[in-house]
Amino acid sequence: MQINSFEEYQETYKLSVDQPEQFWAGIADKFLWRKKWDKVLSWNFSEPTIKWFEGAKLNITENCLDRHLAENGDKPAIIWEPNDPQKDSITLSYKILHEQVCRFANVLKKNGVKKGDRVCIYMPMVPELAVAVLACARIGAVHSVVFGGFSAKSIADRINDAECKVVITADGAFRGNKQIQLKEVIDDALIGCPTVERVIVLTHTRTPVSMLKGRDIWWEDEIKLVDTNCPAEEMDAEDLLFILYTSGSTGKPKGVVHTIGGYMVYAGYTFSNVFNYQKDEVFFCTADIGWITGHSYIVYGPLSQGATTLMFEGIPTYPDASRMWQVVEKHKVNILYTAPTAIRSLMSFGLEPLNGIDMSSLRVLGSVGEPINEEAWHWFDENIGKSKCPIVDTWWQTETGGIMISPIAYVTPTKPSFATLPLPGIQPILVDENGNEIEGNNVSGNLCIKFPWPGMLRTTYGDHERCKLTYFSTYENLYFTGDGCLRDEDGYYRITGRVDDVINVSGHRIGTAEVENAINMHAGVVESAVVGFPHEVKGQGIYAFVIFPNHHEDADLTRKDILQTVTRVIGAIAKPDKILFVSGLPKTRSGKIMRRILRKIAEGDTSNLGDITTLLDPAVVEEIIEKSQK
Ligand code: PRX
Repeated sequence: MQINSFEEYQETYKLSVDQPEQFWAGIADKFLWRKKWDKVLSWNFSEPTIKWFEGAKLNITENCLDRHLAENGDKPAIIWEPNDPQKDSITLSYKILHEQVCRFANVLKKNGVKKGDRVCIYMPMVPELAVAVLACARIGAVHSVVFGGFSAKSIADRINDAECKVVITADGAFRGNKQIQLKEVIDDALIGCPTVERVIVLTHTRTPVSMLKGRDIWWEDEIKLVDTNCPAEEMDAEDLLFILYTSGSTGKPKGVVHTIGGYMVYAGYTFSNVFNYQKDEVFFCTADIGWITGHSYIVYGPLSQGATTLMFEGIPTYPDASRMWQVVEKHKVNILYTAPTAIRSLMSFGLEPLNGIDMSSLRVLGSVGEPINEEAWHWFDENIGKSKCPIVDTWWQTETGGIMISPIAYVTPTKPSFATLPLPGIQPILVDENGNEIEGNNVSGNLCIKFPWPGMLRTTYGDHERCKLTYFSTYENLYFTGDGCLRDEDGYYRITGRVDDVINVSGHRIGTAEVENAINMHAGVVESAVVGFPHEVKGQGIYAFVIFPNHHEDADLTRKDILQTVTRVIGAIAKPDKILFVSGLPKTRSGKIMRRILRKIAEGDTSNLGDITTLLDPAVVEEIIEKSQK
């Protein structure tokens, strides 16, 4: 299933467009099914209904674990590198991982979890997180992993939306020199979560925690009470595998739903191809499993292909800026998949942290999450890849399940800051505001996809209408990505960023409305408007314009209070980088905030604000500009 030359890519791409069902059936054939499908695809983008491999029966963990046991049982499946470099790393072979997954799956069963039940996972980046995810899949439960940086309120919203029955967590997490009290956050969250019957707690940081009688139990105690025999539940290809919440342009995060068969095929196929994974190589994706990148390229993609996947608990700059490179050296990493924000942050330390580190094992480099600027691309290429490792700049989204537009390593000629060409099976089109296709090259427009692919979202949990409205209603019969894009003279794609009210901070999607809602909860705040602005390390930063008539004498203290509120409501990742107190916001006569103007001011470009005569009160613009320049 691996593509080995550009000609082969072109032929494969053509086949995938001319005969998509035949193409995907051929790929799906390489996976393990208990029963093959009756129909490869049925779809309708206006409803939307998307079904892949209907009638097929499988269990994804048999693909990720059982099928490798006979020949590769002793091969490392997961290598875990702890936050503290003084501590030992851990390697789990496929055999051991299989045993642990089966054992924990039995713990879930013993605690009443059944096929179709939803389980929330809020854990540090430890091997047990992967075990918990796979154990859910083993018994047909639907996992909803929540990133360890979200607040109690965000978790409660997610748990309630999915009506989770069980929560899996740990006492705490290490992140650099910080500790996060995960169990404490869960305790706060669960005050408002009536559906949760059980909390399973892993011991990790050994921080004291309170355990509620009748609800909370220890992971370590439970696994002693069960055996390792756990036959995999037989699932339909279109049964739910997981829910992953992501921000959009409206206030409430939505639960993106992925189903088993199509997601498995897509994650496995893209992993194997894009990174040109070779037998026995070590693959290191630096994301957290709390995001889609971790789901698809730490857990499901690599394991479905029998690869060795490296899980890193820490951060690239702890204890110092050479840590990530040391991890590469220590585990002889062959493929390194990271984010532009990490590259930019490490770049700022210069070349010294690279001294004496042998990274000659590297063969492929990857980037994901946000546009990679040329400077970072070249730094990565020259200093990390020594100009001999292809860089795959992979564009995709939580909703797409896997990589969509990207070079294939050693196949597609790359170009700095371009995601290059669509993978086989992916049919991108650019459209103008009215939904008309923009044909030809050297053009830009809004990026849409016109044909289904197996890894695409099926719905948004509990609210199908929202899925339809968000992705399938802007343009008829198209999936709208929310991204702007240009296609250059060679037909290469370059993603230029979001065209909706979503900010991409360090590769994390944050909805402006969500941050505004959080700020507005702070006592004394009358109204606020949030926009993104260019940030050297984060890509985009968060700029908040806040109306707060009676703030304290000390504006800095008020700013700190507001940051505290945002951290409580959403989590530290959504904290604004700048807060400007203003007495009014630029609004149209119908009351709509003109973010276009605020964006320009946040960028520091006030030379051409466009037409402001339609504003209710054009004078506020003067005031905001003046204050922003102080
Ligand atoms: O704007 C695009 C940007 O990240 C968004 C998706 O965010 P999320 O669902 O959190 O998934 C991130 C990891 C897959 C996209 O709509 N984005 C992602 N990758 C790239 C990118 N922008 C430019 N280049 C990329 N390679």
